[in-house]
Amino acid sequence: MNLFTKAVHSGDRKRTGSWVPVTTPIHTAVSYFYDDVETLDKVFAHEVHGPSYARYDNPTNQALETQLATLENGFGALACSSGMAALHLALTTALMDRRRVILAATALYGATINLLTKVLEPEGVEIVFADFSDLAAVEEAIAENKPGALLMETISNPLLRVAPLDEIAKLTRAADIPLVIDSTFASPMVMRPLEFGANFVVHSLTKYLSGHGDVLGGAVICEERYYDALLRLSRTVGFLLGPFEAYLSMRGAKTFPLRMERQCQNATVVAAGLAKHPRVSKVHFTGDPAHPDAAIIQRLFTPGLYGAMISIEIKDGSKEDVFRFINALKMVVPATSLGDVHTMVLYPVIASHRDLSPKHRARLGIHDNLVRLSIGIESPEDILADLENALNA
Ligand SMILES: Cc1ncc(COP(=O)(O)O)c(C=O)c1O
Repeated sequence: MNLFTKAVHSGDRKRTGSWVPVTTPIHTAVSYFYDDVETLDKVFAHEVHGPSYARYDNPTNQALETQLATLENGFGALACSSGMAALHLALTTALMDRRRVILAATALYGATINLLTKVLEPEGVEIVFADFSDLAAVEEAIAENKPGALLMETISNPLLRVAPLDEIAKLTRAADIPLVIDSTFASPMVMRPLEFGANFVVHSLTKYLSGHGDVLGGAVICEERYYDALLRLSRTVGFLLGPFEAYLSMRGAKTFPLRMERQCQNATVVAAGLAKHPRVSKVHFTGDPAHPDAAIIQRLFTPGLYGAMISIEIKDGSKEDVFRFINALKMVVPATSLGDVHTMVLYPVIASHRDLSPKHRARLGIHDNLVRLSIGIESPEDILADLENALNA
């Protein structure tokens, strides 16, 4: 089934008695009972399918989880209270019964670096970083550190590099090491990591899948082998998304392919326009034929869809210049997120990568003149006009 069709139909329309609701209701009940206690006993024993307690199961969440697993071609999914909760859950599940060593890509979202170095490392997990664009370096790091899990992003934040996920998956499959992919920037429209050999996909539902700036949520989608462990961990710790947010996420995800297609098309137009502006010294965009990872992008991405994130470097731009640019924007929203229907601008130095030292940022190539754009569904001419006017200010 096509992704547009899956988004609209999967998960919903479960029969309740003789009637079928066209959308899944928001189930607020914390606990459930049955006609007799024998049935409840069988539900607890997983012999009869049904909810018993909201930390274990919620029908609204389950509808969303079916939809997400279908979109990523995974076995099962678990909706979490945030993208970061989903990442934590995926990594903890991946590391179960394995060496507590994570080999992570150097190019990661700032809070993910904090999760690794400030939460998991103090808990005794060894964290090793490598440049995942360098396949030989990844192979060497696997051989040297024998990690229990690998972690990378499909499109890195904010420099939009694309590592050879398919080649890395061949290495992890051969060594039987779970590969965890944060695919928030790509979304299932642009690429589906499980199809290239990854074991876990993580999304911040807050971004493209919900898409309207009104939900904080996350999801882990995985293959069959890890699904029971994922549920067991979540049911014990309670990483869950609330049913109101699950409903909103599912509603958002129904139109996600339409939005994403438009956002990708807009990004291509806006990136080309910005590349011509005299105050822009560099445009980072995955649709650029001269992108350093163009061959990998051609191999992994859905043809014609390159994502909707663009980063630009303002020529000789200082922090003051970037502030002036952002303050001069009239339509583009200067708020901390991405993937929404409205175009947004974010300054990594003060937001996503604020907690890293200036030295660490410089090592990652995140300089004071770098600005990140998330392109929305508006008219591309209006987006470009607003950005150009602000650059001229
Ligand atoms: C790539 C990436 N992963 C994970 C997250 C975390 O998501 P959340 O804010 O929903 O916890 C973000 C948030 O910006 C992100 O950009």
